[in-house]
Amino acid sequence: FAVSRMTAKATLVNPGINKGSPKVVDMKTLAEIEDLINKSEKGNVVLCRCWRSSNFPFCDGSHAKYNKECCDNTGPLVIKKA
Ligand code: FES
Repeated sequence: FAVSRMTAKATLVNPGINKGSPKVVDMKTLAEIEDLINKSEKGNVVLCRCWRSSNFPFCDGSHAKYNKECCDNTGPLVIKKA
């Protein structure tokens, strides 16, 4: 049973981020996260979980378009300072 390349791409969780790597891992220390929070206008860090952001690993709002097109409900992880 052959699956076309187009069908396989449409079902990938990660359709295009760092595809040359066998695994996409972004490492940040808690201090780096806290620094990002302190520098942000809204006082938080918003991380992409839909794998469609052009600013990955940060959310750029692309999840809304993806959700609409694919009837999905993905959204970001929002980290706020306590
Ligand atoms: Fe991916 Fe917002 S762009 S969760």
